[in-house]
Amino acid sequence: MKKLLQELRDTSLGAIENAESIDVLENLRVRYLGKKGELTAILKQMGQLSEAERPVIGQFANELREALTSALDAKRAELTEKMLDRKLRSETIDVTIPGKTVTVGKKHPNNTVLDEAKDFFIGLGFTIAEGPEIEYADYNFTKLNHKEGHPARDRQDTFYFTDDDRILLRTQTSPVQVRVMETQSLPIRIISPGRVYRKDEVDATHSPMFHQIEGLVVDKGITMGDLKGTLNELVRYLYGDDAVTRFRPHHFPFTEPSCEVDVQCFECGGKGCRVCKGEGWIEILGAGMVHPNVLEGCGIDSRIYSGFAFGIGLERLTLRRFNISDMRLLYENDVRFLNQF
Ligand code: DAH
Repeated sequence: MKKLLQELRDTSLGAIENAESIDVLENLRVRYLGKKGELTAILKQMGQLSEAERPVIGQFANELREALTSALDAKRAELTEKMLDRKLRSETIDVTIPGKTVTVGKKHPNNTVLDEAKDFFIGLGFTIAEGPEIEYADYNFTKLNHKEGHPARDRQDTFYFTDDDRILLRTQTSPVQVRVMETQSLPIRIISPGRVYRKDEVDATHSPMFHQIEGLVVDKGITMGDLKGTLNELVRYLYGDDAVTRFRPHHFPFTEPSCEVDVQCFECGGKGCRVCKGEGWIEILGAGMVHPNVLEGCGIDSRIYSGFAFGIGLERLTLRRFNISDMRLLYENDVRFLNQF
């Protein structure tokens, strides 16, 4: 029996020493010292021993139990410390490693100016209307009083989808005027910003895709004075009180009378330079009093109601607002350029 205990001591102390985790150690404790453990099993056979052997073996067994208990405790302490050590090492932060730079995007200058323009018009009680970029020629031209064969309908200028020229990429935001007059009740005060498309070659002032902000007011007693007052205030809101505007007579099929509005060139102050192509002025929008044909076509009685409309070139506003001399810079997505605004 002593031999059994000695064997148990040798194997168990070795196993405890080699244990690599607290779980393994706990299994060993149960296996050797538990109620159904190996030591207990041996001790149950004590009854077979002689009177003389019993105390000797008993003492030996007690010593073995103590040895096992303290070996288990020591190993447990060692493993706990190791685990903590490993955890700490895996969680250390090297404060000397350079941080990961988080690049934060910025508002595109076009959007900055669009938001300013929206603030201005919303402040005047306008609401924002939307219309589709894929549009019927009917809305883009016909209902806007463009006769058949009008040069603006030309296939060389317009992206048509179908051979019958029925559907196109809108060339202007003006069709939204018609959509609003057909569906909204009077009075109307809306702006409608969005993309428009024309078959233009890219250069410093042209792009096949650009943005307009359409505007429409229809009510009783609206005059050209309302048009001028509103647009002059917009220019002052965007460019400051000393910005100078010029209203020039022009022609648009859907307004009568019509005009174009220029602001004095920021680069040369009106003398004429490269930016304004020697003009001293930069055109930013077209406008006019809504043509009676357009009103009537939308079911509005032009003897009772009148209105004004305008179409602003957003890029033009932006270039002037930030003194940028080439429109292409707005589309190239060069962050070195965009980060300046
Ligand atoms: N749609 C015109 C264009 O693209 C701009 C324009 C002119 C819009 C006069 C209007 C307007 O609403 O009344 O050239």
